[in-house]
Amino acid sequence: MKMPKDLEAAFNSQLTMELEAANSYLQISAWFATQNLNGMASWMRQQATEERTHAVMFLDFILDRGGEATIGQVPAPTASFGSPLDAFESALVQEKAVTEAIHQLYRAAEQADDISSIPFLQGFITEQIEEEATVSAIADRLRLAEGQSGALFLLDNELGGRSGG
Ligand SMILES: [Fe+2]
Ligand SMILES: [Fe+2]
Repeated sequence: MKMPKDLEAAFNSQLTMELEAANSYLQISAWFATQNLNGMASWMRQQATEERTHAVMFLDFILDRGGEATIGQVPAPTASFGSPLDAFESALVQEKAVTEAIHQLYRAAEQADDISSIPFLQGFITEQIEEEATVSAIADRLRLAEGQSGALFLLDNELGGRSGG
C-alpha cells in the first residue's frame, strides 16, 4: 500500500537528515585528523558511513512504498571544535535531534494509520538508543581524561580499533 503524501514528505525529511548527519560526522572526522587524533577520525568516518547507510535505507523504503524519494537541502556542518569533548558533545546533540525526528515520524505514521511503516521505524528507534549511548559513553570518558594526554591517546587508540559499522 502506498503511503500518504504528507507522510512521504516526512520520510524524505528524515532521508535528508540522515545525510546531514553523515556530512557532519565526516566533517568531525576531518577535524580530528587535523588534531592528529587518527583513531577518533577513523571512528567518526565509520559513523559517517553508517549514517549514509541509514539515508539509503530511508530512500529504498520510500521507493518500495511506491513513493518519490527526494533529497532536500543539506546545511553545511560545523567544521571546528574547541576540544575532542566538544566534538563528541556536538555529535550527541545531533543524535538526540535525530532521535526526536524519528519519534515524530513514528507518531505521524501512527496518526496516518500507516501500519507498514511501523516495523521499519521501530528498527531506527532501537538503533537511536544504541547511538546515543555509545556517543554519550565516549563523551563521559573524555571528561574523565580531561587534561591527561596519556588517557586521551589511549582512548584514541581504542576508538581507532573499532570494527565494523
Ligand atoms: Fe542515523
Ligand atoms: Fe546516528
